[in-house]
This record gives sequence, structure tokens and C-alpha cells, in this order.
Amino acid sequence: MTVAGAGQVGATAAFVMALKGTADVVLVDVAEGIAQGKALDMMHARSVEQFPGSVIGSSNYAAGAGSDVVVITAGVPRKPGMTRDDLLTINGTIMRSVVEQAVAVSPDAVLLCVTNPLDVMTYLAWRVSGLPSSRVLGMGGVLDSARFAYFIARATGAALSDVDAVVLGAHGDTMVPLPRLSTVAGRPLTEVLSAEAVAAVVKSTVYGGAEVVSLLQSGSAFFAPGVSVAAMVAAIVGDTHETMSSCVLLDGQYGLSGVYLNVPAVLGRSGVIEVPEWGLTADELCALQDSASGVIDAVASLGLGG
Ligand code: APR
Repeated sequence: MTVAGAGQVGATAAFVMALKGTADVVLVDVAEGIAQGKALDMMHARSVEQFPGSVIGSSNYAAGAGSDVVVITAGVPRKPGMTRDDLLTINGTIMRSVVEQAVAVSPDAVLLCVTNPLDVMTYLAWRVSGLPSSRVLGMGGVLDSARFAYFIARATGAALSDVDAVVLGAHGDTMVPLPRLSTVAGRPLTEVLSAEAVAAVVKSTVYGGAEVVSLLQSGSAFFAPGVSVAAMVAAIVGDTHETMSSCVLLDGQYGLSGVYLNVPAVLGRSGVIEVPEWGLTADELCALQDSASGVIDAVASLGLGG
């Protein structure tokens, strides 16, 4: 597989996938030497850890020709005070160029987008690639759900393994954490915590990424994004048919069409196998549709036409 962008997220994802033996990885970056240097460092680590996956680095997409999966993390991350949407123009240009080059050499790949603003960039990748929507998806919901699970475990004192958390919607401030459908040892979160405590956990989740950005001062989160990418790639290459909150093209589900948004999707070897429609309350549906409207507006500003 190819990981485009050998920065913080791309390198972390590549390293986790190599450690777990998920796939052999070709890291590609426009900045000469970064991908090669990080790949070499990982291969040095292989002598100690004896892990199965290999990583090579290149500045040329041809090195990853014939990839089954192309992960796209190329782009500029957020700085303190920037929203994900501030990244729209600059990362849009990068996304177009990466997709064109990667798909030219790996026409049968599943594209997994990570670059922000995620939902808009995934739509752009789909349009630029000309691939069926089942083969173009994005990583946002897995990360947001992971953050929700962390904050739920912290607030309840429950074991993380007992927490099942789900976040839908745009990967941004309008994301839609679903307390009703999130559980602690099988019990709905709404039965386990007070309404105030649930609201606090939801707020921490929504601003979890921004909190990391403000603490780091330069760059944005990469450990949790990196492992979230690796988990999605494992589901794809392993053809597991796991349901993950993934940024996928909606086709009538939740009253939405033609927009990429994080919703539960079944993942497998061919990418998105199915996008089942979960039963949501009127409030949840409304929040999801509001979240979609921001993505629709941002996509319109790209001027891609119908
Ligand atoms: N082709 C390939 N790589 C590129 C290109 C390009 N056209 N343009 C930039 N890059 C590379 C940069 O050289 C850099 O190494 O993308 C990498 C981005 O890495 P970081 O700056 O460390 O950013 P990172 O934290 O990994 O985030 C990448 O993922 O989570 C999102 O918001 C985040 O959009 C950002 C992306």
C-alpha cells in the first residue's frame, strides 16, 4: 500500500501498520528525503522489534504502483487558532495533485483520505479520482469515536474495553456524538451519566482535536489519527466487514445525498461494502443534517460543479 504524506500522521500510521504486519508500506512525500529517512528509521527499528511489515520511502508514486490501498495524509495541518476549514484551499490543491499521481499508478486502489478538512477533501478525492464512491472514503469518525470513548471511560471510571462510543457527522466542530447509542458495559451512556456529565463528555470530544493543537503549539494530533488509519486499513485489507464510522458518500441515507459524511459503514476488501441507515431520533437526524450543511457549503466553494 501507499501512504502519501510522510509527516506526523502518515509516518505514525505507516509504523503501526508495519508493526502489526497489516501491509507493506510505501511512504511518499513531496519533500525530498523525509519519506526515505523515516522509512529507513522504521527499518532500523525492525531489527529490534522483528515486525513483519516492510516500509520503503520515495518521492515518486511509481514506487507504490499497484497498491491495494492509498492513504492520503499529504497536506498542511492546523496551527493554533485555525479551523479545519482554513486548510481548505491549500490542502485542496495538494489533494488534487496527490490523487492524480497516486491513481495513475494504482488504478485499482481504495483511497483512504485523512487530510483536513476531511469531509470536503474526501469528496474532492472522489471527484478528481473518477473512482466509484465505494473505493473512496475518509478517516474521521473512527478518531472522533475513539476520543469520545476515552472521555466516557474517564468520566465513568469504566474499563476502556467496556466502552462502545459512536460519533457521526462532519469531522469538525459540528460532529455528532451519539450518547444514546454509546454504551458502557452494554448500558446506554444516558443511563450511566447525568445529562450534565454527558454534555461535558460530548464537549470534550468535540474539542478534543483542538485541545491537542493548542497544547502542541505546532502541528496537530497524530498518534490517535495514525492508529485510526491503521484500524481502517486493517478492516479493508483483512476484508473484515467491520462497521466503522467512516466518511462515505451518502446516497439517500439520513435524508442526504451527494455529500461525504462520517456514518456507520461496513468496510472490506473492496472499500465501502454497505452504508446501512441507523435509526436516529429526530434531534439526532437534525444534528446530522446540520453538520452536513457545512460540508455541502464548503464543497460548493470548491467550484467543482454538479
Ligand atoms: N505530496 C506529498 N506530500 C505532501 C504534499 C504533496 N503534494 N504536500 C505536502 N506534503 C507532505 C509534507 O511534506 C508533510 O511531510 O505532507 C506531510 C504532512 O505532514 P505534517 O505536516 O506532519 O502534517 P500531519 O500532522 O501529518 O497532518 C497531515 O492530516 O490530520 C490531517 O489536518 C491534518 O491535513 C493534515 C494531514
